Amino acid sequence: MKERENFGSRFAVIMAFAGSAIGLGNIWRFPYMVGENGGAAFIIIYLLSSFFLSLPIFLSESVIGRRSHSNTFGAMEMLAPGTKWKWLGLLTVVSPLVILSFYSVVGGWSLVYLFKACSTGFTDSSMEEVSKVFGNVISSVWPPLIFHTLFLLICAVIIFFGVKSGIEKFSKITMPLLFVLIVLIMIYSVNLPGAGAGVTYLVKPDFSKITASVVAAAVGQSFFSLSLGVGTILTYSSYVRKDENILVSGIGTASLDLLFAILAGFAIMPAVFAAGIKPEAGPGLIFQTLPYIFSKMGEHLPVLSASVAVLFFITILVAALTSAISMFEVGVAYLVEERKFSRPAATAVVFSLTWVLGIFCSLSFGPLKNFHIFGNTIFSFCDKLTSNFLMTFGGLLFTIFVGWKMPRRDVRDEITSGGRSSLGVHTFNFVYFLIKYLAPAAIVLIFISNLIL
Ligand code: PFF
Repeated sequence: MKERENFGSRFAVIMAFAGSAIGLGNIWRFPYMVGENGGAAFIIIYLLSSFFLSLPIFLSESVIGRRSHSNTFGAMEMLAPGTKWKWLGLLTVVSPLVILSFYSVVGGWSLVYLFKACSTGFTDSSMEEVSKVFGNVISSVWPPLIFHTLFLLICAVIIFFGVKSGIEKFSKITMPLLFVLIVLIMIYSVNLPGAGAGVTYLVKPDFSKITASVVAAAVGQSFFSLSLGVGTILTYSSYVRKDENILVSGIGTASLDLLFAILAGFAIMPAVFAAGIKPEAGPGLIFQTLPYIFSKMGEHLPVLSASVAVLFFITILVAALTSAISMFEVGVAYLVEERKFSRPAATAVVFSLTWVLGIFCSLSFGPLKNFHIFGNTIFSFCDKLTSNFLMTFGGLLFTIFVGWKMPRRDVRDEITSGGRSSLGVHTFNFVYFLIKYLAPAAIVLIFISNLIL
């Protein structure tokens, strides 16, 4: 049998994980979630949740993936043979495909806007015109479908090259670039006239805004942002070598993800306020605000404005691609290892499934907009199903598996990399407590509140 591939270095591991974590969730979703849920108060809960809830789930997936060196289904079969846990393995093959199908539609929009930035640029002078253009783009039939296809094809090519030459190489080159780009955009944004109100919005908490639904939204956002509960972290961890410290890579990834979300907040919110747009404008926020800013700036500084526009949409595209490939890999790893597909055939199958479901998601902004599932369009049904339920449910089961099913000494063995890392007893006990008690209890509470809300 062909030897299983591994990531080459700690830097590669963190860049691949960060590539999965940092994506549309940080640039597209985080700013409008902050906007809809009360600004800085939301960010504080998001921060707490990232370290006390999300990190234990991240570690649980890492422990399972690295211990088994297998895809999600194979991991469950290896660590709990012949039990119902295999259903968790199967569920987490399916959930990332559902996310990928709507994710690649938004990835497609960013391609449409990148082409626009490179060709005609943004010249619409009023907010109404900009919003109308966005509405026309997403509700038309062909352009979003063509770019959804193109986006998925780029993912397929990267995945086709495998773990080291595809995923690792792409992430190592693009992730540092992403940080440089977002910092440049942030500098531009906070210097716009009227940007100060956006900065204040991000740093001044209003605790009266915190309600159960804001807490649930912050936790959900933190799960989505760290790609939790759907087997991507498990699958990537299965390519991590035994001597790598998974606690360090987990904390490193969570910190980078958080840092990037905050930078993206400062890149986008000041621009939103400068443009006089309501921060709670929803999913269209970045696709409406930024083009408007670019067109305004273009009246005085055309070259600068056009360059920032191109940079901005490249940033979104790259961030979306590194996340999308992590979802893509889950299905491919399963098909190759469990169903004995060749890598190219597995890539083609995953491409086809997500492509078809993505077509329905895309059309749900146009011809299928009146087709509803439980009161939601197909796109928002897939989004809510995964972020509010599948991710939370998967996350819960992963922590229960590691906290209650796996022997404690195996968990310790993984978290200390076979005793190579000198982790104090108290630190391990604390991490184990988070995995075994705190995270599952909090997730159950949030799950129930999601159901009620
Ligand atoms: N973490 C990604 C983002 O913030 O855009 C989204 C994501 C990637 C969710 C991978 C789930 C996943 F499995």
